[in-house]
Amino acid sequence: MKIRFLIKSLVCFIFAACQNNDTDKNWTVYHGDKSASHYSSINQINKENVTQLEIVWEYNTGDHDERSQIQCNPLAIDGVLYGTSPQLKLFALNAATGENIWTFDPFQGKQAQGVNRGVVYWTDNETEVIFFSAGSFLYAINAQTGRPIMTFGTKGKIDLHDGLDREGIEKYDIVSNSPGIIYKDLIIMGMRVSEGEVAAPGHIRAFDVRTGKRKWIFHTIPHPDEFGYETWPADAWKTVGGANNWSGFSLDEQRGIVYVPTGSPSFDFHGGNRHGSNLFGNSLIALNAETGKRLWHFQTIHHDIWDRDLPCQPNLVTLYQDEIKVDAVAQLTKHGVVFLFNRVTGEPIFPIEERPAPGSLLTNEENWPTQPFPIKPPPFSRQVFTEDLITNISEESHAYVKEQLKGKHYGHKFTPPSEWGTVIFPGFDGGAEYGGGAVSPKGIMYVNANEMAWILTMVMVKSEDKKGKIGKGRQIYMKNCAVCHKADRKGGLEFSPSLIDINKKYNREGIIEYIKTGKGRMPGFRHLPEDELNVLVDYLFDVKTVNWENLDTKTNPTEREIPYTFTGYNRFVDQDGYPAVKPPWGTLNAIDLNKGELLWKVPLGEYPELTEKGIHQTGAENYGGPLLTGSGLIFIAATKDEKFRAFDSENGDLLWETQLPAGGYTSPMTYSVDGVQYVVIACGGGKMGTKSGDSYVAFRLPENLN
Ligand code: HEC
Repeated sequence: MKIRFLIKSLVCFIFAACQNNDTDKNWTVYHGDKSASHYSSINQINKENVTQLEIVWEYNTGDHDERSQIQCNPLAIDGVLYGTSPQLKLFALNAATGENIWTFDPFQGKQAQGVNRGVVYWTDNETEVIFFSAGSFLYAINAQTGRPIMTFGTKGKIDLHDGLDREGIEKYDIVSNSPGIIYKDLIIMGMRVSEGEVAAPGHIRAFDVRTGKRKWIFHTIPHPDEFGYETWPADAWKTVGGANNWSGFSLDEQRGIVYVPTGSPSFDFHGGNRHGSNLFGNSLIALNAETGKRLWHFQTIHHDIWDRDLPCQPNLVTLYQDEIKVDAVAQLTKHGVVFLFNRVTGEPIFPIEERPAPGSLLTNEENWPTQPFPIKPPPFSRQVFTEDLITNISEESHAYVKEQLKGKHYGHKFTPPSEWGTVIFPGFDGGAEYGGGAVSPKGIMYVNANEMAWILTMVMVKSEDKKGKIGKGRQIYMKNCAVCHKADRKGGLEFSPSLIDINKKYNREGIIEYIKTGKGRMPGFRHLPEDELNVLVDYLFDVKTVNWENLDTKTNPTEREIPYTFTGYNRFVDQDGYPAVKPPWGTLNAIDLNKGELLWKVPLGEYPELTEKGIHQTGAENYGGPLLTGSGLIFIAATKDEKFRAFDSENGDLLWETQLPAGGYTSPMTYSVDGVQYVVIACGGGKMGTKSGDSYVAFRLPENLN
């Protein structure tokens, strides 16, 4: 491959055939580079010719189902593209033609757990390795052959359950979705853990790239004598989970600093077992990449009870302030603000104020009295749901939402969870989400945002039916399953199916195996004891087989540290399913990080049927990030309307759009082969009620324009 590259460069050089191109450029790291810039200097496709783009190849993975997704931002290295499929198969393609070179299937036909957002490339100039995670495993795969590298871990893989410094973790749900990052001979890894009451701790680890041996661990829930230990109850380090990194990292290679954004501690919405500010939950942590030692940190939400995970990699940027150069790190948030710090010292670039936040409305909860507000840059999403934000797309919608709002709790950015329903705005999925933002070499950030309100309703966990075993099963169901499958078992979120008559589809063994393993977005429940699983299945099957009286789950809610569950992640929408808030519902924003100013904001996406009715410029809900190129183009898919667009980074003008075979709910990427620029987006669909898909689509200019 290396030789081929040499020859190609030579040919280009001799015939000057590639005069208007840089030499061939790769996309070697998730989201472009270790700064998470989402940027490539390639500029062949530009503002003048972008409208001529055409599909050059479409690769179908052939393994999607009715609910699957692809969230992968693939890599392209020396003419080979590495990506993952809906069932998490890893594949290599000829990046110019889309022809398959090899495929590796980690699940061998079994249920695929979780999603995959990208892979990691490493080479010592002899071996080329793709590190790829699926379920709880991290695999080292030979980039040439697609076969596991047997000297890594156990036969080519390690289990992220191992080496977390806590007993009994094997059964907890762990899924590695975002790629790790390479520093020297280390691969630094995070993971997704359960957001429920029983969750693994989200410690950060580095493994030797050759052997898979653990080299260091940073306890995000500190152990006794470690910094931050006193921000938790004394025994939390043995029992509480979460505070994990599920969104990836960025790395200052020269300084050897890895930047780690974390999510909330588990359980998401009630901290009865974790009174305190809960370091290092919801924090941006700078660690020495060699040793895992903490250099500095900033907690963006104290004692989180709103699921305000830091949702994307921090962006490393170089800023100029009064002509002084500052190496900075920018962290986007779900709640629609950017935190900016000096990359080395951790000092805020602009002031951040601690402001009072409301107290708790729930039993055994102690909200943190203040929360941090960055003064600059201004928020890139609206911040507080108030009555003047009620939708105005029609009188009917307005009246409907106004009625729904009655009795709900809203009106402050940190309005706490309640039993009568709290409006969460910006929503559970941002503001910014896993797509993150792009940054230009000049310190301009481009970020897409959602403006969708959600409703969070807490309920006491109690056995509703006191007659016997079914009541007990119902309780286990309410605690673990109802958030997605809903209290009435009819399914809820677009991806959670109904469990009514589920006994017609599975037998007892089959369903127990399914529940333990999980699939796609459904977490695994291996930690539930067999007898509880059986009582749960009794409930789902409407039968009684198990003697449950001996089960030791506490039935009296007031004896429990966390007496609540919640009724699920519910979007706040009007009678037709449109967002309850006034448009825009999705935006693309440009923020000058040097000055801390918003440069422009435009609606992103549309609802075609509303556009037809004359309701323009609504923007649409979106998942997935931008790509910025050297010619000043922003490419972005992400929107519910399943379109792919190019914007002018100067002013936000829409320059080009096209319909994709399915929603592109990830970030596009670009590379060049033989002097030709390609732009690729994975179209996996399967979000926001849109159809699933299985393709990667590559665009380029027609031959005569290259
Ligand atoms: C975070 C959301 C979530 C939670 C919590 C959850 N599920 Fe699921 N469940 C899903 C999704 C999503 C699917 C569909 C998975 C797929 O096909 O990709 C699913 C599928 C299932 C299926 C298969 C349905 C079918 O038609 O084949 C069963 C059975 C099931 N879940 C039971 C449970 C039980 C029991 C619990 C609680 C112990 C639970 N789930 C908790 C999201 C969830």
